[in-house]
Amino acid sequence: MTQDELKALVGQAALAHVVPGELVGVGTGSTVNHFIDALAGMKDRIAGAVSSSDASTARLLAHGIRVLDAAEVTQLPVYIDGADEIDGRGHMVKGGGAALTREKIVADLAERFVCIADASKQVAVLGGFPLPVEVIAMAAPRLVRRFAALGGSATLRLKADGQPLLTDNGHPLLDVRGLQITDPLAMEAEISQWPGVVTCGIFARHRASLCLLGTPAGVQTLV
Ligand code: 5RP
Repeated sequence: MTQDELKALVGQAALAHVVPGELVGVGTGSTVNHFIDALAGMKDRIAGAVSSSDASTARLLAHGIRVLDAAEVTQLPVYIDGADEIDGRGHMVKGGGAALTREKIVADLAERFVCIADASKQVAVLGGFPLPVEVIAMAAPRLVRRFAALGGSATLRLKADGQPLLTDNGHPLLDVRGLQITDPLAMEAEISQWPGVVTCGIFARHRASLCLLGTPAGVQTLV
């Protein structure tokens, strides 16, 4: 099976975790796109969705799924999203799709985080995938030096035209290579309190309650 077929498999399997009659939190990325397409088949049995990006909102609306603003919602039973890396305890690196800030906000509203990922995302130790960090632009040079002190090499994420990529919130992103994230909770806490960091792409406080991992042998459950 191709990686995309594995993503489609878990996108479909995630429907079993959507609570009928309730809202569902929806992440961002190619795996979530498969989930959104599958969710369209049960759109009349949910109250609507809370989205983590402009891209996911557009896809949900195109399917006729009602989208509520996160600010209107006090609680969600479940948030469903992909990951760039996930370890055996459900700690994740996220933000490859630049949506990490809204993803963490919507995940924070949810009782459960169901991660959907193809098997290539499973790792023993986080850090092989460059860690995305959304930052305030004026702090970027200082933050690059802070990451260097941790052994990481941080670079500004650029668009194809060479200009800095900006998130849906209008901020640039650093991608940090070379970090060995052996204590995800501690590193998330440390980086998150540096002035100028908007959101760190380590999801340890908001780790997955459950991961549906797409493998050639079928959907396996992690965590
Ligand atoms: C977006 C994310 C995505 O969940 C992550 O990048 C995985 O994406 P994909 O499902 O396309 O592999 O964190 O910010």
